[in-house]
Amino acid sequence: MAETHERPPEQFTLRLRRYDPESGESPYWDEHTIELEPHRSVLEAILQARDRFDGSIGIRCSCRQAICGSCGIRVNGEPALACHTHLDAAKRSAREGVIEVEPMGNMPVLKDLIVDMDAVHWKKIQRVTPWLLAKQPVPEREYLVEREAMVDVTQTMACIQCGACVSDCLAMEVDPGFVGPAALAKAYRFVGDPRDDQQFERLNDLAQDPQGIFDCTHCFKCVDACPKDVNPMGQIMRLRRIAGSDQHIVDRNNGHRHEAAITTLIKDYGLLHEAEMIPRSYGGNSWFGKFHPAAGRELLSSLPVILKAVLRGKVSPKLALLGHKIGKQDLQAVQKIYETVESREQRYELNLYISGEDES
Ligand code: SF4
Ligand code: SF4
Ligand code: FES
Repeated sequence: MAETHERPPEQFTLRLRRYDPESGESPYWDEHTIELEPHRSVLEAILQARDRFDGSIGIRCSCRQAICGSCGIRVNGEPALACHTHLDAAKRSAREGVIEVEPMGNMPVLKDLIVDMDAVHWKKIQRVTPWLLAKQPVPEREYLVEREAMVDVTQTMACIQCGACVSDCLAMEVDPGFVGPAALAKAYRFVGDPRDDQQFERLNDLAQDPQGIFDCTHCFKCVDACPKDVNPMGQIMRLRRIAGSDQHIVDRNNGHRHEAAITTLIKDYGLLHEAEMIPRSYGGNSWFGKFHPAAGRELLSSLPVILKAVLRGKVSPKLALLGHKIGKQDLQAVQKIYETVESREQRYELNLYISGEDES
């Protein structure tokens, strides 16, 4: 007789965050005991709870195969696709063995685990003109493009619009107006497409928008959250590089020059030099840059924050003014990295589908 590897059903405790805004009642937690094989998904557990115990549990789902993107929730506090999370894995990361499921963050809850994707996620996707603005004249037959150019945008095309990155974005938590990781990854999908005619206009629009590409705080949360390895933060950094270094867009947020200031400071000192940050961000690397009027204004407006940081012991005035010091050999090692990268004829833009080995 053929041997079966099917594991027997086990009991799991599921803790569900319940909320119905129309009821006028506050959110509360509901607990159910589920019986399923451990390799089954959290989605199946939620559906079992709905079928057996409470038909009013709200959950959105469709494909059950991590393709449609509709079952985004939080499992034990982390964003996840419910259909793509095994019960045994969820139990391992659970506190006291209880699997906790909640709706995604940064979006209003419609009912229990269902959030309003239209109000946030889809509105932001629409913000970036998510379709091709084709180069004219449109050829009689198809456009011919280099294979590599399309491979370059494949990573962003893998997005299933689940909203997990939006749910976890720290910048959106503080500034709900931020265009956000999913929409900016979508923007790169067209900026990187050689058939699109509006690369400069798209980039300029997102660079000048105070809640655009320079509003991202580089926190990596969207990279971890994405179930399809789209790497939204990586796509945002690419948009910034193309905008600032290739298209020479001077954004009104001063974001590109601020990034350049950080890069040159690390090259010169090996670590950040806080006192030099504002002057370089406005006046560039020259000594006269220190007297740029905008730098003076920024310094004045930042004084309360600086003072607070000093009083709380987060910044030492001596270190801030004189800068951090690292050993000569360490500094040389840092500068060697810069030399290697800067001596390349072409910028490397690796992604999930374009990988390579560094030659040095
Ligand atoms: S890296 Fe940027 S876009 Fe991604 S979650 Fe953090 S702040 Fe949001
Ligand atoms: S980028 Fe990833 S996490 Fe964000 S919506 Fe697309 S698939 Fe989901
Ligand atoms: S149900 Fe389609 S992604 Fe989970």
